[in-house]
Amino acid sequence: PEVIIVKNQEEAGELYARSVADLIKSKPNAVLGLATGSSPLAAYQALAKIVKDESIDVSNVQGFALDEYIGLPLTHPESYHATIHRTVVEPLGLDPAKVHVPGDVLNGAPLEDGEKIAAAGPAYDKAIAEAGGIDVQILGIGTDGHVGFNEPGSSIASGTRIKTLVEQTRIDNARFFDNDINQVPTHCITQGIGTILKARHLVLLAFGEGKAEAIAETVEGGVSAFCPASALQLHPHATIIVDEAAASRLR
Ligand code: F6R
Repeated sequence: PEVIIVKNQEEAGELYARSVADLIKSKPNAVLGLATGSSPLAAYQALAKIVKDESIDVSNVQGFALDEYIGLPLTHPESYHATIHRTVVEPLGLDPAKVHVPGDVLNGAPLEDGEKIAAAGPAYDKAIAEAGGIDVQILGIGTDGHVGFNEPGSSIASGTRIKTLVEQTRIDNARFFDNDINQVPTHCITQGIGTILKARHLVLLAFGEGKAEAIAETVEGGVSAFCPASALQLHPHATIIVDEAAASRLR
């Protein structure tokens, strides 16, 4: 992958926003792959600003999020459905009907609803394909190298499917659930690594010392299911934008 080292999150956000704004101008029904988490927030803000300043028509832009918890209704403030709507759909002024999150069809269906949950993954991949495929997928990375909710050990060929959340991720995310791990869902539905690799351009953002090891493994380690983000090495057009701290373990 191409690695770009920037000063900070804002500068990374500008790079993403400029390229996506140009994409939307040339392709008004562009398909954006969206991520939750803190890493892409400045990028979404920068894009919202360009869209406004340059009066870009985004009414036909389509969006597909990476992942969602199992068992949270769409209206739950910590559902990724609600998060994507708050951080992307509203600020950019996208058509909510054109932005999809993997758990949308489940709307809080409990884990016991196995058949419905099993069907949701392949249906999501089919919807992405029918939309024309993702043009630009934005990604964050976990300290353990996860992308989406594909934790270490996830198959590099995987499609969208249900996964168990690892203990550490549930501990990390408890801050969004009254610091109570018992409120954090135990399972999620996530685009697979195979799904992610089908996007035409991948843009992975990582900031801070805590991501340095995962970035070194992603860029300079072997391609391995033990660092899911290392699958980016298999992609013909992957861009990794990092600050100095996240780049500090690169050789
Ligand atoms: C988000 C997602 C996760 C995050 C990753 C990094 O939809 O799937 O893989 O991108 O955990 O999170 P932040 O950006 O908060 O450090």
